[in-house]
Amino acid sequence: MHSVETAAPSAPTWDPQQYLRHSGHRTRPFLDLLARIPHLPAQDRPARIADLGCGPGNVTVLLADRWADAHITGFDLSPDMLERAGKDWSGTTRGGGWIDFRPADAAHWTPTEPYDLIVSNAALQWVPNHPESFAAWIDGLRPGGTLAFQVPGNFTSPSHALLGQLCETPEWRARLGDQGRRFVHILDASDYLTRLTDLGCETDVWETTYCQLLQGEDPVLDWVKGTALRPVLTALGDDQEAVDAFLGQYRDLLREAYPPGPYGTVFPFRRIFAVARKSS
Ligand SMILES: C[S@@+](CC[C@H](N)C(=O)[O-])C[C@H]1O[C@@H](n2cnc3c(N)ncnc32)[C@H](O)[C@@H]1O
Repeated sequence: MHSVETAAPSAPTWDPQQYLRHSGHRTRPFLDLLARIPHLPAQDRPARIADLGCGPGNVTVLLADRWADAHITGFDLSPDMLERAGKDWSGTTRGGGWIDFRPADAAHWTPTEPYDLIVSNAALQWVPNHPESFAAWIDGLRPGGTLAFQVPGNFTSPSHALLGQLCETPEWRARLGDQGRRFVHILDASDYLTRLTDLGCETDVWETTYCQLLQGEDPVLDWVKGTALRPVLTALGDDQEAVDAFLGQYRDLLREAYPPGPYGTVFPFRRIFAVARKSS
């Protein structure tokens, strides 16, 4: 396990608008995950689907493109994300299904009804104990149902390493305390494979590095403002002077690590995928 800290500090606040600024690059891995999910057990009834850490709901809604009449529930910890998801996407879907969004902490969530699919995109890296929940999640699937998720696997990349180093400088360590510590917990791809297969699933695990080409000024900084920087931005809160100082220092480091090229700024991003089908 890539374990940077043993316990997460209090949950960061999220900014749906900032997060959605890179929705194109952020949606593609979800589509790649979807493409590998096998047929669901639901044949003569609408499928029941959970999306853990659904965020603003823009990928949750893509589930309705594949399972048109499904009842889909997005679960998330962030009131801001849930508000945006509810406003944009809740209600009847084009195929006659239904989408709703509910507050839940994935660290403690267990299915309270049988699901055909439990899915999670780019969220479980924020849930330190998620591998311990696999057994309960698979237990809550119908026979032949699927657990499918994608997590970033880029925590040793310069964007993360530089953020960690900056937070550990005496200036920022004193200001941020543990809020500046990263608390990412993911397994290696092969460990996900073993754990899920041990639980009796037919398991497909893979990893991909997306060679993302970002446009605009300081696009990597803009990207991380939507995700990895949330704990720092949450900790600095309304102290705009400190926010500007931190962002200025981090921006300079990122400019050196990710210089713009002739076609934009290349921001390689490794992601790990797992699709585990419960036996029928
Ligand atoms: C990077 S966003 C991904 C959102 C969405 N799944 C997507 O692919 O666009 C991570 C989401 O995970 C949520 N999250 C983080 N920790 C969580 C937890 N313990 N329980 C539920 N949701 C959580 C955040 O609130 C945020 O909306």
